[in-house]
Amino acid sequence: LKVTWSQEDAEKGGYQHFMMKEINEQPKAIRETLQRRIGKDGKIKLDGISLTREDLEKFDKISIVACGTAYHAGLVGKYAIEKMARMPVEVDVASEFRYRDPFVDEKTLFIAISQSGETLDTLMSLREAKSKGARVLSVVNVVGSSVARESDDVFYTWAGPEIAVASTKAYTTQLVCMYLLALYMGDLRGTITEDYYKQVLKELKATPKKVQRILDKAEDIEELAKNLYNRDQIFFIGRGIDSAVAYECSLKLKEVSYINSFAIAAGELKHGTIALMEPETIVIALATQDFLMEKMYSNIEEIRARRAHVIAVTKEGSQISKIKSLEVIRIPKCMDEVSPILTIVPMQLFAYYVARERGENIDKPRNLAKSVTVE
Ligand code: G6P
Repeated sequence: LKVTWSQEDAEKGGYQHFMMKEINEQPKAIRETLQRRIGKDGKIKLDGISLTREDLEKFDKISIVACGTAYHAGLVGKYAIEKMARMPVEVDVASEFRYRDPFVDEKTLFIAISQSGETLDTLMSLREAKSKGARVLSVVNVVGSSVARESDDVFYTWAGPEIAVASTKAYTTQLVCMYLLALYMGDLRGTITEDYYKQVLKELKATPKKVQRILDKAEDIEELAKNLYNRDQIFFIGRGIDSAVAYECSLKLKEVSYINSFAIAAGELKHGTIALMEPETIVIALATQDFLMEKMYSNIEEIRARRAHVIAVTKEGSQISKIKSLEVIRIPKCMDEVSPILTIVPMQLFAYYVARERGENIDKPRNLAKSVTVE
């Protein structure tokens, strides 16, 4: 018997790259994260995490700190927590937070987000917050990691090992954790109704199947990637929670494909970036928020008027999905609040396929490390 595959190939479970394997593991990972935190009574249980109503009354703000993809999960967390728990939330990249003498004290709930739990800047920020008296809660994937060990409480993401440098399932499970925290806090503080609580939980529980539906249509995204892989630059725009997701879409694309990409809140276009729009410019417009649909439509039209090429990511049946002359990627219908869990998936696939068309080393992009434990 001659074995023609290596140990690493075996671990890839039939996929060419870890990144694709991990993208495909998302339905399972999200389900696992939810199952660990939803009790038989259908309520969120934060076993092992002490976050009582009295605790919440003591905090006057929440400070989220992270790096890279985890930072982008924090941006979505801000939207979710502010909307559901009505508490002010600041989000910082750790390398900025630690050097700016931040306003943190015993009235701060400090949330560190980290897949590895070993990122030096995040760990040092955590220590800084702790030394100023903040309560430290971390959202971490690796059990027993430094960030987990040094936190007062840990909310594990339960994504399973993530090997590819480009983070995928860690991000979507971090999002799930942020939603669960936001809902839990909103419930304790009485800032959401029971119906809303139940509705969001129901929507979260429906996401694994919806993510799977997107994955089942991966060929459409592969096709799009084949058309666009040789472009020099691709922009991402969005409004509201979509703007937070746009940053992650852009990071995913640039880190694995090396295409110059940047993301911007769509309303900011007119303050500078629109000057870059010309025929042949590619703009991916995230337009999943029903209440912002009109605004996004105007942004898309402004860009198209400069003859740039727009591809919209939107929900099935949305007003934008019906525009005949517009290229559209559809995600399943969902509540506006939870759309990031779905929106990112076709864009992870897009980044992957573009990088593959370009022949890049997808799992180990140049100059990048999975975990940055140095300055
Ligand atoms: C590195 C990785 C990124 C990751 C970031 C933060 O730059 O390449 O994928 O998002 O570190 O890592 P952490 O383990 O703290 O989430």
